[in-house]
Amino acid sequence: MNFKIWKWRLFVLLLCLSFCCSALWAEENKPRILLLGTGGTIVGVANQNSPTGYTAGQLTVEELVRSLPGFERLGVDLKAEQVANIASQDMDYPVWKALVERIERAAAQDEADAFVITHGTDTLEETAFFLELALDIDNPVVLVGAMRPTTSLSADGPQNLWEAIQVASSVDSFGRGVLVSFAGEIFPARYATKASTLQTGAFAPTFGGAIGFTDAHRAHYYVASAKKQRRPWSLDWSKLESLPKVEIIPVYAGAGGEALLQALERGAQGIVIAGVGDGNMPASMLQACKRAQERGVPVVRATRVFQGYVHKDHEFKDSDYGTVAAYDLSPQKARILLQLLLARGVRDLERIQAALVGDQPGALRFAEEE
Ligand code: SIN
Repeated sequence: MNFKIWKWRLFVLLLCLSFCCSALWAEENKPRILLLGTGGTIVGVANQNSPTGYTAGQLTVEELVRSLPGFERLGVDLKAEQVANIASQDMDYPVWKALVERIERAAAQDEADAFVITHGTDTLEETAFFLELALDIDNPVVLVGAMRPTTSLSADGPQNLWEAIQVASSVDSFGRGVLVSFAGEIFPARYATKASTLQTGAFAPTFGGAIGFTDAHRAHYYVASAKKQRRPWSLDWSKLESLPKVEIIPVYAGAGGEALLQALERGAQGIVIAGVGDGNMPASMLQACKRAQERGVPVVRATRVFQGYVHKDHEFKDSDYGTVAAYDLSPQKARILLQLLLARGVRDLERIQAALVGDQPGALRFAEEE
């Protein structure tokens, strides 16, 4: 027997064995992603209304995944489920509740390492911020959408989904709260906003810049993760059938106080003012705020301005009119926070003001609140 040949065969056998073991190890250690579909243009299909017309929320999220070229090379263990299939202008609390309950259950039962949610772009930022406030987990939760339907010449959905999966499967995404991955950029839920009705890079932050980006291989962050703080006021979702009615009142040149007074008559339990500049409003509207104050209805002053923040006690003393400042939250996000506070029974203006200042990673800190 030739000893040299046997030595060589043994070497090849060991090499094959180690290759098989590492392939098995990689297979078993693939990040487990739960992909939850809610609809939107990312699963939209052309219709007959116009040459460019389409209907959002047509394909299932399973069909979207099957359309991803080279999906196997992503190296993830992906499970897709349909939570809803709507255009996101129809997004509402029952879908938010279904998302929270599904994600909480999957996290508690260790079913998934991370979550990706496909969503229409129109209200994507609101779902992202709701989940940011509602979820108390460190696992990555990433929202993604698209500006072009699946039938367009160059659909952006598959690429955006690919990138969102990269963001979700990155260990660097743990503890960052809810993220929005769009057109190669990563934004925190607090600041992500749809900023263009046209461009494929439709999202921008209302404060600061993107916190990271994706390339052909993976997600990268500009700064290390700040650990997401615990929600001290989580809710029992199973008992919460609807959210308190909070209305957003727009301010514009010539606006009066009627819209706010009518909202009170309709039974609004909270009001958010989409003010001008630093959350400002005309004198007649300020007087209407006083009426809300008499009724114990909190009024949050936000701004219609795309970037920046609203100061407390800036042009007048907020407590004189029963108002609080939204700081760095857009009107639509301040509304969600106020709804959740009211659902917890929090009506005290000081507590509402403190909650608006925020404790999410990346949220601004204000000297007077510390
Ligand atoms: C939607 O928000 O459902 C329609 C628009 C989009 O997804 O871009």
